[in-house]
Amino acid sequence: MMNLQDIDWRPKLGQKTDYGIGFVGCGGIVHYAHVPAYQKAGFRIVAAYDLKREAAEAVANLTGTATIYDHLDDLLADPAVEIVDIAVMPWHQLEIVQKVAAAGKHMLCQKPLSDQFDQAVQIVELAQAAGVKQAVNHQMRWDAGIAAAKIMIEKGMIGQPTDAQIQVSSATPWHMWPWLASAPRLEVQYHSIHYIDAIRFLFGTPEWVTSRHAKYARQGEVRAETKSITIMDYASGLQAMVAVNHYNMHGEKSAIFRFLGTEGAIEGTIGLMYNYPTGRPDTLVYNRQDQPPVELTLDEMWIPDAFVGPMAGLMSAIETDSDPPTSTADNLNTLSLIEAAYLSAAENRSVRPAEIGNHHASRA
Ligand SMILES: NC(=O)c1ccc[n+]([C@@H]2O[C@H](COP(=O)([O-])OP(=O)(O)OC[C@H]3O[C@@H](n4cnc5c(N)ncnc54)[C@H](O)[C@@H]3O)[C@@H](O)[C@H]2O)c1
Repeated sequence: MMNLQDIDWRPKLGQKTDYGIGFVGCGGIVHYAHVPAYQKAGFRIVAAYDLKREAAEAVANLTGTATIYDHLDDLLADPAVEIVDIAVMPWHQLEIVQKVAAAGKHMLCQKPLSDQFDQAVQIVELAQAAGVKQAVNHQMRWDAGIAAAKIMIEKGMIGQPTDAQIQVSSATPWHMWPWLASAPRLEVQYHSIHYIDAIRFLFGTPEWVTSRHAKYARQGEVRAETKSITIMDYASGLQAMVAVNHYNMHGEKSAIFRFLGTEGAIEGTIGLMYNYPTGRPDTLVYNRQDQPPVELTLDEMWIPDAFVGPMAGLMSAIETDSDPPTSTADNLNTLSLIEAAYLSAAENRSVRPAEIGNHHASRA
């Protein structure tokens, strides 16, 4: 059997990594994830703009290399900015993408691409019409446990996949995102979307989505669902389940993934969700009936390390004129699953993702 420690799960950089990056939106996630990840990878941060100047100033102080802009148009006119890294609330993303595309710049959008499916489609079309590369920041695909599992599944180490489970029971610090309290959709659109995208990355697009959503008895002003269970059935018989609750206020926190197949099993933990956003490294154990369990040591974190992945993938796509691994066109397939989950919950039935309009061909 191959040595598990030989599995190279770390994000891969292209040849050219010195594209100038300009931030639009310089809030929490840029500070504690984008900037440290890019600094570690040696990426070049050249500009920062935020509606609140002090947020852009803080990023400029953190990097020591970013020019602060007071207007988006000025950042876009700067030839040093080759990639625009957008990190704003999803309902502001379209208006920014319109300007970035008009300026002919490549861009990395934040997830979710939009809170409205038709606006996500417009975002994709704008980039296609402008001929610029556009990726979305679904960095969980580069989270160590998920990235390693992908390689192991592709190598046939679990045989035919039969069951996939991601189960998270945590006490999420919702106060970090005050703008989410009034959002009409919450858990699946903003959080489980990472796990649903990861499942699609690992196993492709399912035939059926069945989702149930609920609230915690004391979630106060938080308006939408904070607990969800989503089941995705595949034609092969593979059944995937994503089950998440964000108000485990008294019990032991847990965040596990389990990928079972006809030949083996991959089981592990998602370190970030034990103590967001500090987190801890993931764990991963590989089991086969005829062999002792083998543990793969994972020494990187979802935040910030995995944030290298989407930007590195976008840079490689620019360099080689190919599709980024998290292209926004492909992301419409993940968003179709999110829409299917909400339709399923609202109508108490299972939904085929194809029922959702503008379903695009899957690359995964
Ligand atoms: N793991 C992840 O992928 C992850 C984690 C957290 C947040 N996010 C996403 O990142 C985005 C930002 O989240 P955050 O936690 O940094 O929020 P935040 O509230 O801390 O920061 C958002 C920033 O955007 C600025 N802003 C808003 N509209 C703007 C506009 N039109 N132009 C310029 N600046 C604007 C605000 O002034 C603020 O500084 C959200 O879409 C969120 O869903 C992703």
